[in-house]
Amino acid sequence: MNRNPHVAVAGATGAVGIEMIKTLEQRNFPVGKLTLLASARSVSRKLKYRGQDLPVQELKKDSFQGIDIAQFSAGGSISKEFAPAAAQAGCVVVDNSSAFRMDPTVPLVVPEINAGDVKKHQGIIANPNCTTAITLMALYPLHSAFFCRRIFASSYQAVSGTGAKAIAELERQVNQIVKGQPVTREVYPHQIAFNVLPHVDAFLPTGYTKEEMKMENEGRKIMHHPTFKASVTCVRVPVYRAHSVAVSAEFERPVTVEAALEVLRRAPGLDVIDNPA
Ligand SMILES: NC(=O)c1ccc[n+]([C@@H]2O[C@H](COP(=O)([O-])OP(=O)(O)OC[C@H]3O[C@@H](n4cnc5c(N)ncnc54)[C@H](OP(=O)(O)O)[C@@H]3O)[C@@H](O)[C@H]2O)c1
Repeated sequence: MNRNPHVAVAGATGAVGIEMIKTLEQRNFPVGKLTLLASARSVSRKLKYRGQDLPVQELKKDSFQGIDIAQFSAGGSISKEFAPAAAQAGCVVVDNSSAFRMDPTVPLVVPEINAGDVKKHQGIIANPNCTTAITLMALYPLHSAFFCRRIFASSYQAVSGTGAKAIAELERQVNQIVKGQPVTREVYPHQIAFNVLPHVDAFLPTGYTKEEMKMENEGRKIMHHPTFKASVTCVRVPVYRAHSVAVSAEFERPVTVEAALEVLRRAPGLDVIDNPA
């Protein structure tokens, strides 16, 4: 691959796309050229990258000629429609949506856990569900040391996970409540300001939501652990950004708090903060 790749961000104007652009910059990723793609609604917009104003272009099937890496974050249906065309054009797609995560021909990767799986890609690499990714970052090192049988978990998921419009909805509702005005709803079926919604994604016949099942399904694939079990309750909380998860895990081998902390302190990508005072 080109050492200074031409990178595209599809969904560049969204909550995730904006963070991707910032991350490329903060990590000093050796971007040769950056192409920003979104819907036709955004073609007049410009976004900042390394002090420059880059124009947003409309995402089309022929947008990927000459592009080396495309990061997709425009939703599952857009990924299904455009990612195969991008891969066909010779581009490596890193897809943030749920479109290809459980496809057996697509590696589902958390670099700190299963970076080696990337080598098996056929043009598309999937990135896990947000709550799953952060949970596995802490769980996998413990699993490697003690063998995790199952977990029970509750999430506290920020509105950013629903996208830019949900961040705006929380801000608007907080202002409305503070000013004593009626609360308007566009994104969530119920008020999210000063409230919690125990409903993330659609419910399945089992009573779990699709979001809740991602932890078990995606966790099995990423950790190469086909018998891993996860019973999860996902809750949306009125926080702008960053999800939290409380996990209770059961292991095959005996674990002490000290031994678990030692494993977590050595794990890549984690900061252990254990200081109640
Ligand atoms: N893996 C993770 O950690 C994680 C976390 C959060 C979200 N996600 C996933 O990332 C995706 C985006 O989430 P988000 O929070 O960034 O959503 P968002 O804020 O609503 O942004 C959606 C983006 O998609 C673009 N888009 C929408 N329709 C399009 C179309 N027809 N053609 C081209 N572009 C189109 C939008 O462009 P316009 O501005 O022009 O409409 C915008 O750039 C979703 O699939 C979500 O599930 C993944």
